[in-house]
Amino acid sequence: MRSTLKDLLAPAQVQNYGVGAFNIYNLEGATAVVQAAEELNSPVILQLLPSALKMGGRPLVSLCTSLADKASVPVAVHLDHCSSAEIIDQALGYGVDSVMADGSELDLARNISFTREIVERVRSTNGYGGVEAELGKISGMEDGEIVEAHHQQMTKPDEALTFVRETGADALAVCIGNVHGTYHRPPQLDFNRLDEIAAKVNIPLVLHGTSGLPDEMITRVIGYGVCKFNVNTEIRSAYLGRMRHLLCQHDRCELTTLMKEAINSMKDVVKEKIRLFGSAEKVLAYEPS
Ligand code: G3H
Ligand code: ZN
Repeated sequence: MRSTLKDLLAPAQVQNYGVGAFNIYNLEGATAVVQAAEELNSPVILQLLPSALKMGGRPLVSLCTSLADKASVPVAVHLDHCSSAEIIDQALGYGVDSVMADGSELDLARNISFTREIVERVRSTNGYGGVEAELGKISGMEDGEIVEAHHQQMTKPDEALTFVRETGADALAVCIGNVHGTYHRPPQLDFNRLDEIAAKVNIPLVLHGTSGLPDEMITRVIGYGVCKFNVNTEIRSAYLGRMRHLLCQHDRCELTTLMKEAINSMKDVVKEKIRLFGSAEKVLAYEPS
């Protein structure tokens, strides 16, 4: 059944679990995520980066919304990391339910006005699904862009309060030392900062850069109010690794065999994350607004 960011995160926030938001690029990715969620009776978010949207356009969004409509569990379709109002409009027109307004490149005042404008735009569409915003700047590699480690900006708790109040955003992505892509040194999250942010802000918190974080860190941040986890690198690596292996081992391979193998390899990752985030068997907790 089709759901929204807002409706999936509300019970997660109250009951202290995380909803997995998995970046997908094609049929295999979307199928893997939805099947994994169905097998574990878990809500889930299918999310598309602007590059995937550019490649797949309306047909890719239709694939996601159609899988979501038919799924036995609640599934939201979300646009990830978008700094362009035009692309956000396009994605909403294609049927995406919610978006991430990424103003992390902007200073505080401009990030507030950009995010507020996107919240107003999305609210003016039918069936408001919610807006996720980012405060601070996450380093690492995402959607083909690299943010160098020295450009990372941690989320400031006092600014978070003002930001949320003035933008009306529904979920806040925080930077507490989390990194997109590969962690080149052991991850170090600033739990005190997260605790302070959680004490000031009452909307669901989001952690990006989940791939590569140890299980105990995930469990700990859930305790501080993180209820959406973004996963791209690990699911993508599972897909590419399996393809690489099969193509190197076999001279001839049926394309459908490769597709099934790709789905299974990604499904394993998604199921492991769903169990870790604590959203398995949480469908009963779901009540649409
Ligand atoms: O928005 C997407 C995620 O933040 C991706 O994080 O590179 O750790 O999988 P990841
Ligand atoms: Zn991200």
